[in-house]
Amino acid sequence: MYFKSTLSLVLALAATTAVSLSSLQGRAEARIARRVSGANKLRSEGGEEVNSTDWAGAVINASPGTFTSIAASFTLPTPYVPEGADPSGNYSAVIVVGIDGNTCPTATLQAGVVVSLEDGQPSYTALAQFSSPLNSATFPDISLSAGDLIAVGVTAVNATSGMAVIINQSTGESGYVSLTSPDTPLCMMDGEWIVRFGDEPLPNFGTVVFTYPVAETPSGPVDASHANITDIVQGDTFLAYASISPSSVSVTFA
Ligand SMILES: *[C@@H]1O[C@H](CO)[C@@H](O)[C@H](O)[C@H]1NC(C)=O
Ligand SMILES: *[C@@H]1O[C@H](CO)[C@@H](O)[C@H](O)[C@H]1NC(C)=O
Ligand SMILES: *[C@@H]1O[C@H](CO)[C@@H](O)[C@H](O)[C@H]1NC(C)=O
Ligand SMILES: *[C@@H]1O[C@H](CO)[C@@H](O)[C@H](O)[C@H]1NC(C)=O
Ligand SMILES: *[C@@H]1O[C@H](CO)[C@@H](O)[C@H](O)[C@H]1NC(C)=O
Repeated sequence: MYFKSTLSLVLALAATTAVSLSSLQGRAEARIARRVSGANKLRSEGGEEVNSTDWAGAVINASPGTFTSIAASFTLPTPYVPEGADPSGNYSAVIVVGIDGNTCPTATLQAGVVVSLEDGQPSYTALAQFSSPLNSATFPDISLSAGDLIAVGVTAVNATSGMAVIINQSTGESGYVSLTSPDTPLCMMDGEWIVRFGDEPLPNFGTVVFTYPVAETPSGPVDASHANITDIVQGDTFLAYASISPSSVSVTFA
C-alpha cells in the first residue's frame, strides 16, 4: 500500500483497522519527512504577518479545490494559569489543523485537541469539527495527557464529507471520525495549523510546535514555509505569536 500522507494513512485505517499501525505509521512518517523536505510546489507571495483577535499560526490561502488533506504532529503542552490571572479560573486553547475557515466563507473542517485548565487541573479533549460547533465529534477511544506526541489530520473526501484522524505516536493508538456538512461545502482553499481561543481565556500553553506540517494538493504535498503568519493581538497586546521554519510552525503564548 502506498500512503501519500498521514491522512491517506487514516483513510486506509478507516477502511481496515486490522493493518499493523506502527509499521504503516513509521512508513508514512518517513515519506512525509522526505516529501516535506523536497516539496514546495505551491507558488505564493507568502510570509505576510497578520493580526487576529482569536487565533495564531500559519495559514496558506490558495485557489478553491487546492487542499484535500492537512496534517501535522505536535506534543501536548502542559497549560498554566497566566501570570496575574485567577488561579481557580477556567482556561482553554484549541490546537488544530484544518481546511478553510480563513478566506473560504462557507465552511471549515478542523481537528485537534482542546487543552483546558479548570481550577488548576489540565485536561485534553480530541475533537473534529465541520463548520458548526454543533457538527463536531470527539474521539472516543483516545485518552490524552501532557507530553503525548500526536499526529492529527483532516481529509476532505469531497466538499461536504470529511474525515479526521489522530494517532498517538508513542503507542500507535489511533482514532478517526467521519463528518458531513451537506449545507456548508468546503472551498478547499485554506490550509492552516493554528492555536485558537476556546470558550474561555487562553491558558499559558508555552510553545506549541507543529512538526511536519503538510498539505496535500492535487499536484502533490506542500509544506508551510510560504504560509502567512498570524499572531493573536487584542488592542495593542500580543497574546500569542507564530513563527515558521521549513519543517515546523510554532505558536508561543506571549
Ligand atoms: C497572504 O495573505 C495575503 C492577503 O493578506 C494573500 O493575498 C496571500 O495569498 C496570502 N499568502 C499565502 C501564502 O497564503
Ligand atoms: C469552570 O467550568 C466548570 C464546568 O465546566 C464550571 O462548573 C465552573 O463554574 C467554571 N468556573 C469558573 C470560575 O468559571
Ligand atoms: C499515548 O501513549 C501514551 C504512552 O503509552 C499514553 O500515556 C497516552 O495516554 C496515549 N495517548 C493517546 C492519545 O492515546
Ligand atoms: C461525498 O462523499 C461521501 C462519502 O463517500 C458520499 O456519501 C457523498 O455522496 C459524496 N458527496 C458528493 C456530493 O459527491
Ligand atoms: C499587529 O498589531 C501590532 C500591535 O498593535 C501592530 O504594531 C502591528 O502593526 C499590527 N500588524 C498588522 C499587520 O496590522
